[in-house]
Amino acid sequence: MISFNNVSMRYPNSAHLFRQVSFSIEKGDFVLVTGQSGAGKSTLLKLMAGIEPPSSGHILINEQDISQLHPNAIPYLRRRFGLVFQDHKLLYDRNSFDNVALPLSIQGITGEDAARRVRAALDKVGLLNKEKAMPITLSGGEQQRLAIARAVVSRPSIVIADEPTGGLDKTASLEIMQLLKAFNDVGVTVIIAMHDVAQVSTIAYRTLHIEQQTISAMPAQAGIL
Ligand SMILES: Nc1ncnc2c1ncn2[C@@H]1O[C@H](COP(=O)(O)OP(=O)(O)OP(=O)(O)O)[C@@H](O)[C@H]1O
Ligand SMILES: [Mg+2]
Repeated sequence: MISFNNVSMRYPNSAHLFRQVSFSIEKGDFVLVTGQSGAGKSTLLKLMAGIEPPSSGHILINEQDISQLHPNAIPYLRRRFGLVFQDHKLLYDRNSFDNVALPLSIQGITGEDAARRVRAALDKVGLLNKEKAMPITLSGGEQQRLAIARAVVSRPSIVIADEPTGGLDKTASLEIMQLLKAFNDVGVTVIIAMHDVAQVSTIAYRTLHIEQQTISAMPAQAGIL
């Protein structure tokens, strides 16, 4: 579904984050991207979503080389991804409902059709009773769940979440991971960057660990959620 072939990445005027890495992620995988702060986890997610181009190598999404895509095709590619950013990027001047409705309105989906989908997404993350609430009045965990609702409202086949449990306590973190696992259980490929893997040691996953400019892929850990 996503494959990296000999991908190297460095930002201008800095050292390589990784060199010549190759791995693939299959449909339905639940993948954790691990590594120390600054190792390149967020960058790896941006490469996967076509937000940053690699310095060299090829990244294929469903056999399509994203570096060869016409710029006009990028928005269509992005729709396959539900992105949860490290800092939520919620709109703080709009309520929960409007935050979740935004990706739909960008796709031209409005009115009753949109409202039904927004409420279904809010329901899945347990925030249906908060649709009128402004993000600032929500707890950290609720804001994170709102960001997840916004990411899944377009029914993406891949959800990419960057430190979705950052700043949350153990209970709230586990709730977020269980929520992402529930999407994975219905076939969504889930890729999560996280530095504190101890939090999720009970969930079955594959890991991509970034260290010393290489990425090591490790098979699924046994576990139950
Ligand atoms: N747009 C950019 N331009 C130049 N350098 C960047 C850019 N984005 C990130 N970097 C650098 O690349 C390195 C990796 O950053 P990245 O955000 O991918 O790390 P990370 O593993 O996600 O870290 P954290 O755990 O702190 O979120 C860092 O040294 C960072 O300063
Ligand atoms: Mg990061």
